[in-house]
Amino acid sequence: MSGGPSLRRVPAADLESVESDPALVAKIRAVIERDGPVTFARFMELALYDADHGYYRSAAARPGRHGDFLTAPEAHPIFGRAIARHAADVWAALGRTDPFSIREFGAGSGALAQPLLERLAAETPDLAAIVRYRAVEVEPRRHDELRARLADAGLADRLEDDDRGPIAGLVIANEVLDALPTHRVIRRGGELREVRVGWAEGAFVDVEGEPENPALRQRLEREGIHLADGQRAEVCLAIDEWMDVVAAGLERGLLLLIDYGHAASDLYDPRRRPEGTLAAYLRQQVHDDPYRAVGRQDLTAHVDVTAVEAAAERNGLSHVATTTQSQFLAGLGAGDLLVELQTGPDASLEAYLEARSALVRMIDPAAMGGFRVMAFGRGIDPSGLRGLASAR
Ligand SMILES: C[S@@+](CC[C@H](N)C(=O)[O-])C[C@H]1O[C@@H](n2cnc3c(N)ncnc32)[C@H](O)[C@@H]1O
Repeated sequence: MSGGPSLRRVPAADLESVESDPALVAKIRAVIERDGPVTFARFMELALYDADHGYYRSAAARPGRHGDFLTAPEAHPIFGRAIARHAADVWAALGRTDPFSIREFGAGSGALAQPLLERLAAETPDLAAIVRYRAVEVEPRRHDELRARLADAGLADRLEDDDRGPIAGLVIANEVLDALPTHRVIRRGGELREVRVGWAEGAFVDVEGEPENPALRQRLEREGIHLADGQRAEVCLAIDEWMDVVAAGLERGLLLLIDYGHAASDLYDPRRRPEGTLAAYLRQQVHDDPYRAVGRQDLTAHVDVTAVEAAAERNGLSHVATTTQSQFLAGLGAGDLLVELQTGPDASLEAYLEARSALVRMIDPAAMGGFRVMAFGRGIDPSGLRGLASAR
C-alpha cells in the first residue's frame, strides 16, 4: 500500500456500488445501540478482524494481485529474495546459531516466506538446512494457504507451529502495524477530543467527545505534540501491546518492521497532514471514508515511528536503525537480484521487465521506497547487516 498524501474524499464512481457487509454493519450498529458510540479503534477492529465478517477474515484473497492493494512481497518475489540476504546476515551476526527461527507476523498466504526460503536454499544452504519458519497470521485460511504453498515448493519441513515462545533469529512484520486498530482524535478550542463512531440516519457517523483513555493525551504529550485547532490525527495505542508480545518472543536477534510511517513530529505536522492519515483501500483505489464498504475495504493509518521506537526500547530492545525501504533494499543488493533475472539461465525479457517495474515501485521514494524500515536488536552486533549499513 502506498498511501500518498492526496486522498479522495469518496471512492471513484465505479466503487460506489460496493456495499458494506450488511451482517457486519448490523453487528457494529448493535454494539453502538447497546453501549453508545464506540472508539474508532473498536470500529476498525470489527471492520478488519471480526471473526465472521472482518475484512481480513474473508475467504477472498487479500492482499494480492486481485485484492485491494499490492504489498511489496505480493508485488514480486524479489522482495523475499532480498530479505533472505538480511536473514543470512542476522544469522551470521548471531554466530550461525542453531536453531535459528524466522517469525513473520501477518504472513498472509506466504508471498514473503516462499521466495525467502527458496533463496536461502540457493544462497545460504547451511542456513536453509536449519531454519525454522514461524508464520503468525490472524486468519487460519491464509495460514492453510501458506502451508499448502510451502508444501508445493518442497519447503513444508521448514514450517514450524508457533507458540510465540522466545526465539533466536529474525522477527519480521511487513505492513502489519498500519493495520492495527487506531484511535482518532481532533483538537477543538484548545481541547483534545476523541472521534468515536456513532449511528445516525442509517449510517455510521463521527461523534466527538471527551477522550476515553488518558493514554491518548499522554502519548501526544510524551512526544511533544500539540495539534493545531481543527487538526485530526490517529493515535495507535495498540502498538504498545503488540510490541510487548513481539519483544517477549525475541530472546536474541533482530526485529524488522516495515511500514508507511513517520517520526511523530512529521506525522502530526498540521501543515502536512491536517486531516490525519487514515485511508481506505478498495479495488486498488484509495479514499478517506472508513464508513463505506465496511468489511469489504482495508483500513490503514500511517505508523508513528517515534511510538514504535519508544515501545521497543521500553521492552529492552535496542534501536539499531531506522531507514527507508529504498536504502534497505539497495544495501541488500536488490539491483544484483534484478540483473540476475536478465542474465541467469531462466532469463526472459518479459520476466525481467515485470521484476524491474515491481522493483522500481519498491524503491521509488514516492511509492513504497519511502516506507520506513525500523530495526531493533537484542544480543546482536548489527555491524554486518548490509541492509542497514547506510543508516548507521
Ligand atoms: C496489509 S496486510 C500485510 C500482509 C503481508 N505481510 C504482506 O506484506 O503482504 C496485514 C496483515 O497483517 C495481519 N495481522 C494484523 N494484525 C495481526 C497480528 N496482531 N498478528 C498477526 N498478523 C496480524 C492481517 O491478517 C494481514 O494479513
